[in-house]
This record gives sequence, C-alpha cells and structure tokens, in this order.
Amino acid sequence: MPSDYQTLYLRSLEDPEGFWAQAAGDIHWERKWERVLDDSRRPFYRWFAGGVLNTCHNALDRHVEAGRAEQLALIYDSPVIGTVKRYTFRQLRDTVARFAGVLRQQGIQKGDRVIIYMPMVPEAVVAMLACARIGAIHSVVFGGFAGNELAKRINDAEPKLIVSASCGIEPGRVIEYKPLLDEALALSTAAPSRCIILQRAQAKAALTPGRDLDWDEAMANATPVDCVPVAATDPLYILYTSGSTGIPKGVVRDHGGHAVALKWSMRNIFGVAPGEVFWAASDVGWVVGHSYIVYAPLLHGCTTILYEGKPVGTPDPGAFWRVVSEHGVCTLFTAPTAFRAIKRDDPNGEHVKRYSRDKFRALFLAGERCDPDTLLWAQRQLNVPVIDHWWQTETGWPIVANPIGIEKFPVKPGSATKPVPGYDVRVLNSEGKEVSAGTIGSIVIKLPLPPGTLPTMWNNDQGYKKYYLDPYPGYYLSGDAGYKDEDGYVWIMSRIDDIINVAGHRLSTGAMEEVLASHPDVAECAVIGTADELKGELPLGMIVLKAGVNRSHQQIVSEIIQLVRDKIGPVAAFKQATVVKRLPKTRSGKILRGTMRKIADGQEYKVPPTIDDPAILGEISESLKTLGYPKPQG
Ligand code: COA
Ligand code: AMP
Repeated sequence: MPSDYQTLYLRSLEDPEGFWAQAAGDIHWERKWERVLDDSRRPFYRWFAGGVLNTCHNALDRHVEAGRAEQLALIYDSPVIGTVKRYTFRQLRDTVARFAGVLRQQGIQKGDRVIIYMPMVPEAVVAMLACARIGAIHSVVFGGFAGNELAKRINDAEPKLIVSASCGIEPGRVIEYKPLLDEALALSTAAPSRCIILQRAQAKAALTPGRDLDWDEAMANATPVDCVPVAATDPLYILYTSGSTGIPKGVVRDHGGHAVALKWSMRNIFGVAPGEVFWAASDVGWVVGHSYIVYAPLLHGCTTILYEGKPVGTPDPGAFWRVVSEHGVCTLFTAPTAFRAIKRDDPNGEHVKRYSRDKFRALFLAGERCDPDTLLWAQRQLNVPVIDHWWQTETGWPIVANPIGIEKFPVKPGSATKPVPGYDVRVLNSEGKEVSAGTIGSIVIKLPLPPGTLPTMWNNDQGYKKYYLDPYPGYYLSGDAGYKDEDGYVWIMSRIDDIINVAGHRLSTGAMEEVLASHPDVAECAVIGTADELKGELPLGMIVLKAGVNRSHQQIVSEIIQLVRDKIGPVAAFKQATVVKRLPKTRSGKILRGTMRKIADGQEYKVPPTIDDPAILGEISESLKTLGYPKPQG
C-alpha cells in the first residue's frame, strides 16, 4: 500500500475507521471493538467502543512475553543525586505488578482515582503504570505546583489515595513535598484517607500515623497482581491543565484510542523503531511526560529515559549530550526553552563536541513556539533534523508535525509543518469561515478528533462542550491562532486566550490575577505575558491599590510575588510586578491586556477606539519603564 504523506493523510480523513482499525492491529486486545468510531452521541465521540484491553499489558507484559524481557525499558538518570538506575522490561513489569498489589491492598479498584504528586523518580512511572494495570485512573500533579493547586486537583478528582515522595531536588536545593501535600490535604474538601510516601535519602518526611504508608514497607508486604481488562473507552488518566480561569481543566484520556494513537505516532511521526532509545526531556507532570516519557516509548517496545536534571547547570550545558551519548539515544524531544538555555551557556557548541552521538538521528521540539534562531542553532550544532511540532495536553499527541517516519518535508523554521494524519486542521475567521492561505485565524480541528485525544473533561461534559466545541460547531477549538501557507504548512503564532507559556509550561494569567486580587491591599489587577529571551514568556503583574493604602509599594509587590509562589508555585515564575494608578480599560470595563503587552514588548500599538481614557497608556508605559520595559531583544 502506498505510504506517502498525502495518501495517508487523505485516507485518514476519508476513511478514519479503516485507517485507525489498521493501526489498532498493533495493540493487543482482550476483546476486539464493536465500533471503531462510535458517533451515536455527537459531538461526543468514542473510539474502539466495545473493545477491551489493558494499557499496562501493552506497555510491559506483552514485551516480556514477546522476547524483550531483558531489554532495558527504563533508564533513570539523575545528575542531581548522581544516580543512574536501569530497569529491564521484566524488572519494570515485576515492580509495577507489585505496586499494583499495594494499590489493591489499599482497596483501589477499577475506576478509582489516584493522585500522583512526585518528582522525576522511577516510582512515579511505576505508580502510573500500576494504576493502568488495575484500571485505576491516575492524575499526576507536577511537583512545581504549590499545595493550593494540588488541593484544587484533589477536589475535582476526588482520589481514594495519593502517592507522593518526601522530596524533589532542584539544583542547589531540596524541595520538601510532604509539607505541600499536608497543606493541600488540609485545604481540600475531598482528602483521601490514605497516602503512600516514598522516602528519599535527601529528606525524610514525618509520616502521619494512620494515614501515611511508607512506599518500601508497603512494597515489601504486597503480592503482585495481574492486568485487569478495561473498556477501551474507560479513562486511563486525568491530567489537569490551565484554562482561562483559576480552575484547571481535567483532560480525560481513554485506554484504547490512546494506546493506538501513541504507538502509531512513534513510528510514523518520530520515525523510531522498537528496541531503540527514546528520550523526552520533560517531566511526568506534563502531557509530554505522560505520552513520551511513559506510554508511547513503552507501548512501542523502546527504552525510555527518565531524566531528573536540567539542560544546564547539572552540571553544565553538556548534560543532554552526556545522556544522549551514555545511553545511545536515537531521538530527543524537549522544549525550545531548554535549547535556548543551552545556547545561552554554550553558544559555540563546545560541550556538544565533547560527546559522541552515534545513534542520534533527530531532535523534536514542542511545548511552545520555537523561534527560528534556536532551531537553526540546534541544527547547526547537531547536524540532524530539528523538528518543531505542535500539540496540547488536550490532544495528547502531535497535531501538526514533520512526520519523518512517513515522509520528511523541508523544514521551514517557525512552522510546525503539516497536519498529522487524523487531524483535519482548519483556520477560521471570527464568523467561522475558512480563511485563505497566509491569513491568520483561529486554529480549529474538524470533528471527530482522532483517537487518543480528549473525549471529554472529567465529570464535565458541559464544560468540554462550552470551551472547545460550542465556539465553532463541528470543530474543536485549539485556543491557538495561526495560519496555513501556500504549501499547507501550519504556523502557530499565539494563544487567543489568557494562557501564557513560561519555559514550555502552560499557565493561566487569570489564575495569577485571582491570587493578586486576594491580597488585602489590591483593588484591581492584571497579569500579562511579556516576551522573554530564555523562557519565551514571563508573567508581569500590575496592581491598583485600594484607596487609603499607604504602605511601601515595594513591600506590597514583594508580598504579592510571594503569594503567587505560595498559591500557584515556583513554576509560575512570577517575579515582576508594579503598582499603577489605574488600568487601561474599554468603556465597557474590559482590561486592555493586549495593549499593555504590546507596550511592555516595545511593539507598535493602536490606541483602541473603545478605550476609556487614552492617557492611561502613557502612565502604564512609564510604570513599565521602571521595571526595565521594553527589554532589548536580539
Ligand atoms: N518542583 C519544585 N520546584 C520546581 C520544579 C519542581 N518539579 N520545577 C521547577 N521548579 C522551580 C524551579 O526551581 C524554579 O524556582 P526558582 O524560582 O526558585 O528559581 C521555578 O520553579 C521555575 O522553574 P523553571 O521554569 O524550570 O526555570 P529554571 O530557571 O529553574 O530553569 C530552564 C530554566 C529553561 C532550564 C527550564 O525551564 C527547563 O529546563 N525547561 C524545560 C521545560 C520543559 O521541560 N517543559 C516541559 C514541556 S515539553
Ligand atoms: P500544553 O497543553 O501544556 O502542552 O500547551 C499547549 C500549548 O502550547 C499550545 O496550545 C500552544 O499554545 C503551545 N505550543 C505547544 N507546542 C507548540 C509549537 N510547536 N509551536 C507553538 N506553540 C506551541
């Protein structure tokens, strides 16, 4: 059968059921599906309805049985604690089966939720796969979030158990997780009665008697359990992601479509074969970590790397090349910000030259817009294709990419290349009409979305409809703006909502504004994303004080900075704020965040005709100058 991109792409849209049924042949099913695509409840679609499988079986047991038992499944490489630990597929399967036994002993059943709040340790992967093994639904919360954010996720997911660790390690400091967990449990309205805590040598946590169990002790007393068959349409996990407000969105992922799409993506998008070493330098707390540290490489029979370190400073900007060389990585996936950090510290690639990269074939970048400079620099240093691809927590795998496993297109720096088979990507104007090539609009995907993408939001079908489907009936709203060029390449330019992207981390300015507004001296506030050479964007807060407040502005600013760190977490990187007399608004009271952003970034802007008082823009410009805005770029 011809397998060029155009043929495959058209087939995926014209005959999605045939296309995905064929891909599903690469997954082991306990019972075959009754319908490939169940569209009986439009606009809610279900893939592989009636099918039964187990994701953990497909990721581990299946490979053990098929001759990969002694192949490495997972390499844990931690420069921050100076450890490398290797697990074969057999060892990982046995460890996961035993931890599944721990979960079972604690009464966890199919459909129960388990929150995993852990640093980048192998036990986080073990806990995820153990949930999958018994059909429990995991929800991993990124370690850089504060207790308050963890509490929001506990309230929504209502977990029966939380798995955590005594600490995480950031360069130069140990982050104690247990106090954050305890704070979250105290704040939450749905705290579970049981936690399992992994004690790390760098900081031991005091366990709460009757509630907390020690990971090692629980493992020692557990009996391994087998995989439980689950419906293809059952949830495998919930992953919370930032929306426009302070309430995170619970993206649901199912078992069947997810396994099929991820396995397919490894060969067709990433061009990787079973048995090779694939490394996604991300965190298990993000979707990239879920899909490309844990599930996709293991489903595909690859060795995956779990890296507990940074691109620079652990110990130097050669860190990535050491890992690539030492473990024989063929494909690396990371965020552009990591490369901007490496480029900043090693502009001439001296550290790149220190290591051999015999097996290294491709670098994939995603998570934020990739600036052409960084892409070209990486290409020059590494002499391999550098591939930008676009996707989101909601889709779980790439929407637009240069699918090198099918056909490699010429790279156009700044574009993520072409829509991936399965995704009918369109660009619409505000009236919902398709725009011509080169015109910017809202990027949408015609329904149905392919397998592996979100079928809904956790306990919130209506929210799913409202945020993603109602704005343009028949389409999924991505939340990104961009255009297609004459060659069909897709260019992702910006968000259309209040989401910003800080070092590849998706954050809500609305959530930060809620925190600022909770300060007793703040009358109103705005948070905008400003351009940053390293992290892509950085949040900047502007606050108006309540009448009569005459405390030091500097003091209030440092209090609100601390408040965001305490309530959202260090990952927000909220470090700049200023007091202003008033905020620019339209006559109907809408804060002109976009205009303020342009002022901060030194871009030209038009004074909006609906502005209440144009003089305020001059005041904002003066206040921003005191913080060094606009920053010199280049
Ligand atoms: N637990 C606790 N704190 C964490 C954390 C975690 N898991 N991850 C990050 N933090 C803290 C950091 O220590 C830092 O704290 P600080 O304000 O005290 O310095 C803060 O959160 C911001 O972290 P980060 O954005 O990682 O910035 P950095 O300055 O430490 O490092 C980079 C900059 C570019 C090296 C880093 O952002 C990076 O490696 N980015 C890659 C992004 C990525 O993998 N994205 C995933 C999507 S693909
Ligand atoms: P997340 O859900 O955290 O993965 O963030 C998804 C968002 O990150 C997307 O909606 C985009 O705004 C942005 N993003 C991810 N990858 C890219 C890319 N390759 N180019 C531009 N923006 C990207």
